[in-house]
Amino acid sequence: MARITYIEFGGKEHVIDVPDGATVMEGARDNGIQGIRADCGGACACSTCHVYVDPSWMDRLPPPGAMEEDMLDFAYEPDPARSRLTCQLRVSNALDGLVVQMPEMQS
Ligand code: FES
Repeated sequence: MARITYIEFGGKEHVIDVPDGATVMEGARDNGIQGIRADCGGACACSTCHVYVDPSWMDRLPPPGAMEEDMLDFAYEPDPARSRLTCQLRVSNALDGLVVQMPEMQS
């Protein structure tokens, strides 16, 4: 399990305990958090689960795969230094304390 902080674009914070094996996207979707749409249901085919990862976490996450890299090009205002697709981030206790911020909108 990992305690993850999701910050809406407007600044509202949600601190959620997400079970191991779920994705960061599912942690948001299953708790009704606004700002992550996940239109494709986690298939890495839509980019509407885009977030900005807190800079202190970028080096601690597994690097994005080729499909995620490609889909991030379609995200709304991606930032190469801190953008990730949450459906590609699998939760384990290694992600405990992760902080992600939603963009102003999803593409
Ligand atoms: Fe569609 Fe992540 S949910 S790319």
